Amino acid sequence: MPEQLKTALSELARTALNALNLARTKTEIEEVRVRYLGTKGSVSGLMRQMGSLPKDVRPQVGALANRIKDELTRALADRLTDLSAQSQGPALDVTLPGRRTRRGRRHPISRTIEEILGIFTRMGFNVAEGPEVETDYYCFEALNFPPDHPARDMQDTLFVSDKVVLRTHTSPMQVRTMEAQRPPVWVVVPGKTYRRDSDVTHTPMFHQIEGLVVDQGITFGHLKGVLTSFVHQFFGPDVPVRFRPSFFPFTEPSAEVDIGCVICGGPGCRVCKNSGWLEILGSGMVDPEVYKFVGYDPEQVTGFAFGMGIERVAMLKYGIDDIRLFFDNDLRFLKQF
Ligand code: PHE
Repeated sequence: MPEQLKTALSELARTALNALNLARTKTEIEEVRVRYLGTKGSVSGLMRQMGSLPKDVRPQVGALANRIKDELTRALADRLTDLSAQSQGPALDVTLPGRRTRRGRRHPISRTIEEILGIFTRMGFNVAEGPEVETDYYCFEALNFPPDHPARDMQDTLFVSDKVVLRTHTSPMQVRTMEAQRPPVWVVVPGKTYRRDSDVTHTPMFHQIEGLVVDQGITFGHLKGVLTSFVHQFFGPDVPVRFRPSFFPFTEPSAEVDIGCVICGGPGCRVCKNSGWLEILGSGMVDPEVYKFVGYDPEQVTGFAFGMGIERVAMLKYGIDDIRLFFDNDLRFLKQF
């Protein structure tokens, strides 16, 4: 086969493949096909000229032309496949509206604790935390509980061992705080507490906030002022407050604090048991007996303490009638806060 012819054929193949590479659309690819492989195309034209070639070179030229035809046909098919893969579009459609990320939010109990701590810290209280696994000494003995007090009974207290319990209240932190510092004491203590109890208003684990103020000249008037201010900031400025005589081994005198029923607003309902009042916390002047355990001089200082159930005040504030909702982790409930 004459070298000239061979070069012309390879040249044809090269320009055809080049043109194919430059084709960007289906139409352009089709144009390339028609130009080179169509009935009037270059390759076909070449085939037709075969007749005029000397007999001995025809088979060689024919074979080469066929190879070029095959190669070009395959390349065309490949380009079409590439193009249709691309035309399915990019994996990311930038015109779609963005997907919303669902943001978590703070648990209603955490939010309630933060709100209460905010109120007390603005009144000058410090915040402290203490152990949930507590000794009998801090939980009861140093708080002036007599050895046979019912709170020490297995019925109410969860025991770790004979002298170690899960704290039944945050009051042990009164003793720990006074042990650790001299007056003036202004402290609030949030934390988990445990009792053997379970129904619509009690869970074995619940939260309390303890408060303790000790200094020279602290009176029951300070107790009333601080707690009334708290109620008005937390529940609203018009909510009635009353102090009802009560008893705790570690305070004397003691008072429970009631607020006007926030559910019915006074006339009486199921929640306030038709009394129009709701108990929200226990309080009192620190019993001088407790000072003896921590080395404070009851002739020099006086003080008051209070303890409040977080779930209880959160239920009243938000109108929740089952304490277990706080711990079920049902998003339909939690999303409402
Ligand atoms: N610790 C008491 C309770 O759990 C509440 C309390 C705290 C009462 C401080 C008086 C003073 O019921």
